[in-house]
Amino acid sequence: MSDETTREFTTVGVIGLGTMGAGIAEVFARNGYSVIGVEVNETGVERGRQHLEHSTGRAVKREKMTEEQQAELLGRITLTTSMSDLAGADLVIEAVIESIELKKSIFRALDDVVGPDAILATNTSSLSVTEISTANSLPGRVIGVHFFNPAPVQDLVEIIRTVVTEPHVLADVQRVLRDLGKDPVVCGDKAGFIANTLLFGYLNHAVAMYEGKYASREDIDAAMRFGCGYPMGPLALLDLIGLDTAYEILDTMYKQGRDRLHAPAPILKQYVTAGLLGRKSGRGFYTYE
Ligand code: CAA
Repeated sequence: MSDETTREFTTVGVIGLGTMGAGIAEVFARNGYSVIGVEVNETGVERGRQHLEHSTGRAVKREKMTEEQQAELLGRITLTTSMSDLAGADLVIEAVIESIELKKSIFRALDDVVGPDAILATNTSSLSVTEISTANSLPGRVIGVHFFNPAPVQDLVEIIRTVVTEPHVLADVQRVLRDLGKDPVVCGDKAGFIANTLLFGYLNHAVAMYEGKYASREDIDAAMRFGCGYPMGPLALLDLIGLDTAYEILDTMYKQGRDRLHAPAPILKQYVTAGLLGRKSGRGFYTYE
């Protein structure tokens, strides 16, 4: 293993280019890293490409970035359907859907792809990082790196160390995230980590309030924005997070902690079943163009 304080990270792999994965790829590319984004098929690659073009296009429109800078940024990102393209990655961040079996199969497969020095991270919101790490032959190099949505905007990244994460892996990841301008915090491996444990009881309560017709969605959101200074109301935030993702997070936390606060409000499941997933599907609590 190379010197833990001077090791250089230049190439980062991101597996899964949904809302979070594409955002994470953008964060690294903005900071000069070469990024290899892996998706399961061409449809996934195309969705990732559109997400990246839309997000960086927004920055161009707002004159935060020139078209040349956008082209350079996008030029640093290679999109592929082949995991073997991750062979030279120093750090791989998995950001696929919240399925423990899928995540474990990826960490198992990475054994045959990356070198022994590569650090492997999962962006899981609520699954056990320890369990995911057991799928790899070197669980000491596995760590949780949990970005917040939208990843290019939110400064917080939670780093989840397991009981076997090597100290130099933690130190390297902290350094890389600080270099990106992020504010990492470190916590242990418990469903929800710090922020979601505190946030999702509140979000779930807002859904129950809406479901019980206690107040309109606009008034619930306005109360928290204008009364408590939150940048978004809870129902608008759920639409941003994705109602399917929110449901999975709540369900996992509920199964692990049995705290009624986290028992998903029934309407959340109904929305997900009906395909109302929030912004990404065009409709959730609100409708989007
Ligand atoms: N992708 C990239 N950039 C985005 C973006 C997106 N989806 N949405 C907004 N931005 C950027 C804008 O381009 C703008 O950038 P500049 O300042 O450089 O111009 C900046 O963010 C502010 O955007 P807007 O002016 O359009 O809107 P806003 O001021 O209302 O901010 C917001 C939008 C950043 C989303 C803000 O409302 C916010 O911070 N909301 C709370 C988000 C939050 O709580 N996230 C955590 C969710 S929980 C989670 O992610 C954990 C999990 O496991 C699910």
